[in-house]
Amino acid sequence: MVAAWRDGTDGVHMDRALAFARQGRGRTSPNPMVGAVVVSDTGSVVGSGFHARAGAAHAEVCALDAAGAAARGATLYCTLEPCAHQGRTGPCVARIAEAGIRRVVVAVGDPSPRVNGAGIAWLRQRGIQVDVGVRRAEAARLNEVFLTWAALGRPFVTLKIATSRDNRIAAGPGVRTQITGSAAAAAVHATRAEVDAVGVGSTTVLVDDPLLTARGARRRLPLTRVVFDRRLRTPPTAKMFGTLEAGPIVIMTTAAALGSQEPAADRLRAAGAALQPLETGAMAEVMQRLGASEITSLLLEGGTTVHRAAWSAGVVDRVQRYVAPVCLGARGVPWMDDGMSVAKLRDARVRRLGVDMLLEGHVQRLD
Ligand SMILES: NC(=O)c1ccc[n+]([C@@H]2O[C@H](COP(=O)([O-])OP(=O)(O)OC[C@H]3O[C@@H](n4cnc5c(N)ncnc54)[C@H](OP(=O)(O)O)[C@@H]3O)[C@@H](O)[C@H]2O)c1
Repeated sequence: MVAAWRDGTDGVHMDRALAFARQGRGRTSPNPMVGAVVVSDTGSVVGSGFHARAGAAHAEVCALDAAGAAARGATLYCTLEPCAHQGRTGPCVARIAEAGIRRVVVAVGDPSPRVNGAGIAWLRQRGIQVDVGVRRAEAARLNEVFLTWAALGRPFVTLKIATSRDNRIAAGPGVRTQITGSAAAAAVHATRAEVDAVGVGSTTVLVDDPLLTARGARRRLPLTRVVFDRRLRTPPTAKMFGTLEAGPIVIMTTAAALGSQEPAADRLRAAGAALQPLETGAMAEVMQRLGASEITSLLLEGGTTVHRAAWSAGVVDRVQRYVAPVCLGARGVPWMDDGMSVAKLRDARVRRLGVDMLLEGHVQRLD
């Protein structure tokens, strides 16, 4: 099997497993997208599968079921380290050993506290050869959301903003301002369709009264809307409360605010909000609470105050800045200073969307 490394066969089979993994996109949260392929010792693909949704069979089990007796003596390619614990489904490593797999090729390890090398160690202890790292970068990119959440306990955070060319996000304080055009709006809705949650600061709710739903884009799971609001200023009449069928609305506030503003809290609960009492409501605490609620990805849509807080807390993974060909002038509300300029992002990219541009890139990555 050393030859497989040399002639690139492992890479070809792992590419196939990655293609299967992608079939779970948008459906598996809070689980990762995972694909698996079983290859006989003569090089034939005898089974393949992917993880379709949380609670469904893991990719390895699907591939082994498909392979049946042909799995004996074969190699299993997995895009993520197989689990060694009882979760929503049974441990995959036991199924792999039972099936008689001789070698397992893993693209990237699973940093979840319950796995974190235990799957690989379990297999090796039973004499199964395990090779790790084939297509590691591709697999890590595919599951950047899951790997961030599993390793750090917080969601993968994307800052999203629409600015004028002179870096303004509204024409003036308290002025609701449409900045970008329909192509940019469609791109935003497509991104909302892929994340677990969308978040905004309380001032944005007061000024813009947004729905925060994914419109015109197919979404399979509920979309959680998160409002950062330590003083309970969110109006119970906000339009988003008319969209609870799209997913829950969670207000991240403080225990002190709940204690001192009971009537406001009751009105928000009556409107359909879930109130999350935090100790301080600081960004790091909010993110850990969201992570504990299985929110693995958050699109933080502004405004500047919550963006700046997230940036300072070091919890931003990706930035998406839509830039419209207009200037709003000195009276406009500024976005952040150039601490977030695209030049400082890794893998910065520029895309034209109608008359607007999307500048995006990653701030930090685990791979
Ligand atoms: N162009 C765009 O894409 C876009 C997008 C969004 C918003 N906007 C515009 O941005 C403006 C609002 O921006 P903004 O900066 O004034 O307000 P904001 O970021 O929407 O909300 C700020 C509020 O969030 C609350 N908050 C809760 N937890 C926080 C935390 N951990 N850190 C920081 N703040 C926290 C604070 O109030 P508490 O202390 O009471 O909690 C704070 O006053 C509006 O004009 C809106 O139209 C534009």
